[in-house]
Amino acid sequence: MSVNEPKLSVPSQEALPPLSIGLWQHKHVLDLDDFSPDEINLVFEIADAMSEVISRDVKKVPTLRGKTIATMFFEPSTRTRASFELAAKYLSADTISLDPSKSSVTKGESLIDSLRTLQALGVDTIIIRHPCSGAPYVAAQNLETSIINAGDGCHAHPSQSLLDMYTLRRHLGDLSGRKIVIVGDIMHSRVARSNIWGMKSLGIQLIICAPPTLMPHGLNEMLQKCDLEHVTIEYDLDIAIKDADAVMPLRLQKERQQSGLISSIREYIQHYQLTPERLSYAKPGAIVLHPGPMNEGIEISHEVAYSTQSLIEEQVTNGVAVRMALLYLIAGGKNR
Ligand code: CP
Repeated sequence: MSVNEPKLSVPSQEALPPLSIGLWQHKHVLDLDDFSPDEINLVFEIADAMSEVISRDVKKVPTLRGKTIATMFFEPSTRTRASFELAAKYLSADTISLDPSKSSVTKGESLIDSLRTLQALGVDTIIIRHPCSGAPYVAAQNLETSIINAGDGCHAHPSQSLLDMYTLRRHLGDLSGRKIVIVGDIMHSRVARSNIWGMKSLGIQLIICAPPTLMPHGLNEMLQKCDLEHVTIEYDLDIAIKDADAVMPLRLQKERQQSGLISSIREYIQHYQLTPERLSYAKPGAIVLHPGPMNEGIEISHEVAYSTQSLIEEQVTNGVAVRMALLYLIAGGKNR
């Protein structure tokens, strides 16, 4: 090579600044009912550091080098799976993505035996999505490997709730006393359930709004039994939305619907779609979130979904930082 030829420059990786993990105790992330306010704020602090990494030209730090992280999704996913896998790669972990439809599950292997196989292969953390509520709990009871719940049936989706609250905090600051409305198919929503626990920790005033047929049976009793006084149930969206700081419509989960829960889509749209007119009853500049995927034109109008008040794309971006924080706290534990 002649001395005048340009040299290839390899971009360098800058390490993370030292991050205190405070009193972090969790081996698994199954739901937010056992997360203290300090632990949620710790996830947010570390996610702030991870957001800075994501903004770099070289989006990679060596933090989880030598660790192996597996995803096993028994239900479809775009956001959660892609963002956990990117999060692991940005932290320099090795990753395996096991597709259950092409795994030995199709030959009759049980869930636990499949996960034990990943454990025997040296996987440090398994991220699992499963249609059965409780499946990640059974996994956590039967394995030494850390388990992260990426959504189990209608039960819980803790990383989604953390990224929802992280997005709110970035725009609203302290969330204590803020009024947030979650509206739509509450009955089938693991996102709503995890947000009930997470938002309690942060002192958020949460209004749950749905037609009576899409409200979970016994929700009122459960709220009383578990001292969830921060949650109010409201069936009329025009009342629920008044003076709200943020509104989060939920997808009508057609794949989990039994027949007869709503009289017609047209009527549902008429009473529960988040439209510009309905949004105008909220506080000026109120934030719009949606966990995705959206049924545009059903629970949310096109105008609202793409308005300047909508942070739906930012939620997706923040999901990578929040999941990097979770992997750092869970998988990085033995290295700290
Ligand atoms: N919000 C959410 O869980 O989206 P995916 O199903 O695309 O992962």
